[in-house]
Amino acid sequence: MLNIKLKKLYQQDNISILYTPFMPCRFSPFAGRAPFVMLNDLDIITIDFPADVDTLRVYAIGDVHVGSREFDEQAIRKKIEIIQNDPAGAAAVCGDLGDFGLKNSKTNIYQATMTIREQIEYIHDLFLPIVHKISACVPGNHEQRILREAGTCPLYDLCVRWGIQNVYRENMAITRYSFGEWQADKPMKFTGVTTHGSSRTKHKRFIAAFSGVDFFISGHTHQSEYAPHSQLVVGDQAKTARLVPYKELVVDANLKPGGYGIKKEYEIAPPPELQYIELTGYRDMYTRQRSKVMSYHSVQI
Ligand SMILES: [Fe+2]
Repeated sequence: MLNIKLKKLYQQDNISILYTPFMPCRFSPFAGRAPFVMLNDLDIITIDFPADVDTLRVYAIGDVHVGSREFDEQAIRKKIEIIQNDPAGAAAVCGDLGDFGLKNSKTNIYQATMTIREQIEYIHDLFLPIVHKISACVPGNHEQRILREAGTCPLYDLCVRWGIQNVYRENMAITRYSFGEWQADKPMKFTGVTTHGSSRTKHKRFIAAFSGVDFFISGHTHQSEYAPHSQLVVGDQAKTARLVPYKELVVDANLKPGGYGIKKEYEIAPPPELQYIELTGYRDMYTRQRSKVMSYHSVQI
């Protein structure tokens, strides 16, 4: 209902999109957060789910490349539907939603299936059913090229139109998820970092510098990856060092095989899948202590 209202409102007025007021869904755990804090990468986004949610799923969406010949429309629609129907689901969006080819970019603009304006409108309508579930949104290099050339980022403008500019960050989104009950009625808290990503080696070096982050979601390489890591943490008082785990997930590109990927001999992608990290807790039956539990999952599309 809300989505339909939003759509109608924004379709009427494409000119004042930058000044659209913040309109969170009041039934969503994402509601009620302050607007206009979108540009500081170090501002932490907080997402609070209710206490009766004891397991949370953070879906990874990125490298969709709407407008490219290889864009897989059927796959992305299925992914959106799954996220939409999951009441305990959030979506971390890691950029390159559109192909946004310009005449000087590597992308062959003569092979694009939509103009840039059409890509923006298509993405707007495509994501509308799940915008209230987006917990992090960062642009990819394909959106950044418009920012470089024209001074405006289409993904930022879309977030404003969707009323979720408070989960947009220019380079990196740090999101703190809280849900369920920890101990003494306190919720469980996990922290995720979403970036677009760069080369595999650079990204691994980048995430290794963080402390206190449970999982990282990125894309860019178009090669899905599930990589569990840990840090060996030595505390001031501790007599032994302890392992602190963190997970890395690299999103599967939403592209059919062919075109640029074949020309450049990129690794052939697996069949399309919707990847997510499941977050929950485990209570020790003797000590009653709860520990964080994270696991990788994917739905074959
Ligand atoms: Fe990409």
